[in-house]
Amino acid sequence: MTFNFDKPPDRRGTDSQKWQRYAGRDVLPMWVADMDFQAAPAIIDALQRRVADGIFGYARPVQSTVDAVVAELGTRHRWKIDPSWIVWLPGLVCGLNVSVLAYTLPGDEVLSLSPVYPPFITAPKNSGRVAKSVPLALNAYEPLWDIDWNALESAVTPCTKMLLFCHPHNPVARVWSREELALVADFCARHNLVLVSDEIHCDLLLQPGAVHEPFAIAAPSEVARTVTLMSPSKTYNIPGLGTSFAVIPDSTLRARFAKASAGIVAEVNALGYVACEAAYRDGAQWRDALIAYLRANRDYLAEFFLRELPEIIIEAPVEATYLAWLNIKELSLASPVKHFETHGVGLSDGVPFGARPGSHVRINFGCPRSTLAEALARMKAAVEAR
Ligand SMILES: Cc1ncc(COP(=O)(O)O)c(C=O)c1O
Repeated sequence: MTFNFDKPPDRRGTDSQKWQRYAGRDVLPMWVADMDFQAAPAIIDALQRRVADGIFGYARPVQSTVDAVVAELGTRHRWKIDPSWIVWLPGLVCGLNVSVLAYTLPGDEVLSLSPVYPPFITAPKNSGRVAKSVPLALNAYEPLWDIDWNALESAVTPCTKMLLFCHPHNPVARVWSREELALVADFCARHNLVLVSDEIHCDLLLQPGAVHEPFAIAAPSEVARTVTLMSPSKTYNIPGLGTSFAVIPDSTLRARFAKASAGIVAEVNALGYVACEAAYRDGAQWRDALIAYLRANRDYLAEFFLRELPEIIIEAPVEATYLAWLNIKELSLASPVKHFETHGVGLSDGVPFGARPGSHVRINFGCPRSTLAEALARMKAAVEAR
């Protein structure tokens, strides 16, 4: 079966959060992490069958949905989980916030590695904890984002209780290696930290041959301090269906997570379960075709900057995700996002990710090649017009 990722869906005037931001303006939205592609036919078919039932009561996952998750983790990620470890969630940002509530107290410190997806910084703050971000470092010898182990060690105080870890890492798109994960596990063990591993991007690996190691299998000795957050939402482009899950092998951590969620966290909806099952059970062909398309988009983007816009630098290869972190320091723009918007491209500002003002922006390249080409041409015009 072939899939057509080249055909742009017209999302103007729809409920799309991504497109509504620029309603009535000629700005291509390249910000929030959803893709301008229709979902896999297998998901659309399953949803249509479910909608045809016409019954939309409160839902719980049926056995086949649980089986699909267990099979996905077992066969694709070599992680054999017990179904009782799964805690369903309406979103992973919710999972980050609940984790902070469940395992830390007001005033405790929560670490993350920056730049990072902004909710890693806001989740601790939302409940009166202290967010401490330790900057990632560019490797001195090769284009690679590294964990600065000395800085991470120095950041720990007696109040540090948790590490929020992004794997693969949004926005620098690193796929952490087994060796690095083992060091992270050792760090958490030595400082007695709960490790929350957000693996929402785990299927979107763009380097040929790259393998996702779930934190919990890379560091089996630390599984009792680990909460893994996962979802089909990014890979299968169904984030609006709000279906995610935590995998928490340790029963005490699971009970604390449930207690912190009680009365606050909404149920997952019936359509979300259906989409999740269809994605994992029947979506592999579409997913593989998508990844090939995204890989070509990534290469197109990288070559464009090298050839046409050398003032904008991708400091290290985009190993995963459909997001690229762009160094724009050389442009010396006071308000980079505004400047690019004025020239018709909507990017994410780097500041909420922990970057210095004017230093970085993030671009979402999960779109048809024609949209990407147009956005890049507009960026070039924006740079020339500064
Ligand atoms: C690392 C990471 N976690 C969580 C999310 C959002 O998850 P959700 O929409 O399920 O809350 C994103 C979205 O971009 C993300 O990049």
